[in-house]
Amino acid sequence: MGHNLLKGKRGIIFGALDENSIAWKVAERVVEEGAAITLTNAPAALRFGEINKLAEKLKAEVIPADATSLPDLENLFTKSMEILGGKLDFVLHSIGMSVNMRKKKDYTELNYEWMMKTLDISAISFHKVMATGLKLDAFNEWGSVLALSYIAAQRVFPDYSEMAEAKALLESFARSFGYHLATKKKVRVNTISQSPTITTAGSGVKGFNAFYEYANTMSPLGNAPADNCADYCVAMFSDLTRYVTMQNLFHDGGFSNMGMNPALLDL
Ligand code: NAI
Repeated sequence: MGHNLLKGKRGIIFGALDENSIAWKVAERVVEEGAAITLTNAPAALRFGEINKLAEKLKAEVIPADATSLPDLENLFTKSMEILGGKLDFVLHSIGMSVNMRKKKDYTELNYEWMMKTLDISAISFHKVMATGLKLDAFNEWGSVLALSYIAAQRVFPDYSEMAEAKALLESFARSFGYHLATKKKVRVNTISQSPTITTAGSGVKGFNAFYEYANTMSPLGNAPADNCADYCVAMFSDLTRYVTMQNLFHDGGFSNMGMNPALLDL
């Protein structure tokens, strides 16, 4: 049951592929809290994903956009404002893809063209989203922009490969662009660093299941589920967090501050 925390607010949700997607859960929760949204994903993902099911359920329109394409993003922001009837109060960037990981390239032998594509999709697209919103004057004051990150931005997780660099860049964009959106528009920008979560992107990481179990045991509260991540996003989009900006916020059951958990010795 919602609490009208986002009543009257408008937003764009990137990255709902299927019902396991973190963005899928966020879309459901923000609508439950009274927001009106548009949904978007890359044209290819619209073909093999299930976003139309979600759109029907939430009575939201789907606007295709490759998040690396500035013309697609301009179209997305323009149409979203038309459909929703005004400027936007929030945006969720829930996008990640590693070409080298997908093609099983070892980290020490990365293909650099593929790496550029990975960085463009997983991190530079976040800059492009914010730059487009700013250029089109699409944000309401006290708006909130979020992207999803992972702790491999700070610590070494060898199987996370080039996505570690992508997440480090993503978090840096949240700080740097956060400054500009705060001073120009009073809009806040943050990243949420989420626990391992069973989704299409998550399961693409080598040895994901063992890794998921390891994090689950190391975290005193256990891994943070996707539904709770959606709750956190609602809080960050609501007016209760207006002065939180340029932060990387861990949503990980305590994992990021652990050194050793004796429970791991029993594994
Ligand atoms: P997912 O596979 O459901 O979502 C990834 C989305 O990125 C998909 O909807 C995909 O179509 C979209 N995407 C890929 N290329 C795109 C492009 N060029 N333009 C627009 N969209 C594009 O997986 P998940 O886990 O929900 O991922 C969402 C975010 O959460 C990602 O940033 C991921 O790195 C992050 N995250 C995931 C964790 C996990 O263990 N699943 C842990 C921490 C962060």
